[in-house]
Amino acid sequence: MPSTYRLAAIPGDGVGPEVIAGARSVLDAVGARDGFSVEWLEIVAGGAGIDAFGQAIRPDDVDAAARCDAILLGAVGGPRWDDPDAKVRPEQALFALRGGLELFANLRPVTVLPALVPSSPLRPELLEAVDLLIVRELTSGLYFGRPSEQRETPEGRVGIDTLLYTEHEIRRIVRLAFELARGRRRRLTSVDKANVLATSRLWRKVVEEARGEFPDVEVGHQLVDSCAMLLVRRPASFDVLVTENLFGDILSDEAAVLAGSLGMLPSASLGDRRTAHGRFGLYEPIHGSAPDIAGQDLANPLGTILSAAMLLRWSLGLGDAASSVERAVEAAIEDGYRTADLVPPDGDRSGLRVVGTREMAAAVVDRLGAAVAGAPA
Ligand code: NAD
Ligand code: IPM
Ligand code: MN
Repeated sequence: MPSTYRLAAIPGDGVGPEVIAGARSVLDAVGARDGFSVEWLEIVAGGAGIDAFGQAIRPDDVDAAARCDAILLGAVGGPRWDDPDAKVRPEQALFALRGGLELFANLRPVTVLPALVPSSPLRPELLEAVDLLIVRELTSGLYFGRPSEQRETPEGRVGIDTLLYTEHEIRRIVRLAFELARGRRRRLTSVDKANVLATSRLWRKVVEEARGEFPDVEVGHQLVDSCAMLLVRRPASFDVLVTENLFGDILSDEAAVLAGSLGMLPSASLGDRRTAHGRFGLYEPIHGSAPDIAGQDLANPLGTILSAAMLLRWSLGLGDAASSVERAVEAAIEDGYRTADLVPPDGDRSGLRVVGTREMAAAVVDRLGAAVAGAPA
């Protein structure tokens, strides 16, 4: 094991810097415990990048991030940069990283910690045994198709986006999803809108072609509208879901309700490139910059901390350290620590300790059994 890893930290906007501070403190503490250190490269991007440099992320910073072992990102965007006519938008930083670094596979695992069942608005019996993984295609589809613009025409204004998938783009994400299903309960649900979209009909064909390579995995096709319903009707029936970019974006926010809060869900964005330690990747919570609570020490840092655990596992090859972070998160929850978003809506707070972002991260650090358990800045 090397003594130093190089990680890029991109705090971004809104609650981004707060949740990144929490996750950094956890990674630093794991390193102090296990005998490695993290050399952090801090990159200004998103709305902060627009303010500082006039662009969401500088190309040199994308290159510098690519040279690190992995990237940890908070969130970008916010009302200050929401002008619909702006040429430069904070979200361009995400696309430059995801697309530019060919991180085509976005893994969004959804599990329910037993102590958080009351934090979800769903009935407890629906949440039993929920353990699913959304595999979202991340570098194509409507997010990257061109043209994508507004036009003035003699008939009035038109807006146009382009939904295009090549069979290569579909096959690589579908294959990865099959492989991931193999390591889990061997059930794959491919989600599409094949009754309407040509891209979805191609998607289905490619899934059918790939299934021969994975005879041990049970495959089903589900239309995205009914899938959205089933995710809250019988969520425990899903194992791995694989879907295109936009559907995956929407379904994962919906699935966050199962876990108790949007603030709980982590993600890993991976491509094919390997480093000396594992797969290169970008790790971020699935939530946004939460401008309504930014700067108030209110944000839940656990989605980012769990993203850091995914970073340890996928990019640094430190599976045991990753599991220990996940156990520390679980222990903090079991011990009653709750950020405001996790407080059960029925108002029953008995045994709960309602804390801010910093105290929650510190509670996780304390439960790592770290030799040096410094509180986050
Ligand atoms: P959001 O995810 O920022 O917030 C939705 C709701 O969830 C808000 O009420 C917010 O307070 C709450 N929430 C989100 N994260 C939380 C956390 N960690 N702890 C507690 N509560 C949390 O979505 P939005 O409000 O639709 O978007 C705000 C901005 O974020 C937009 O500019 C959007 O483009 C951007 N965004 C960025 C990313 C990203 O950087 N990956 C992801 C989603 C949205
Ligand atoms: C996410 C976000 C982004 C996306 C936005 C901010 C562009 O919602 O990471 O889920 O749609 O991919
Ligand atoms: Mn989203």
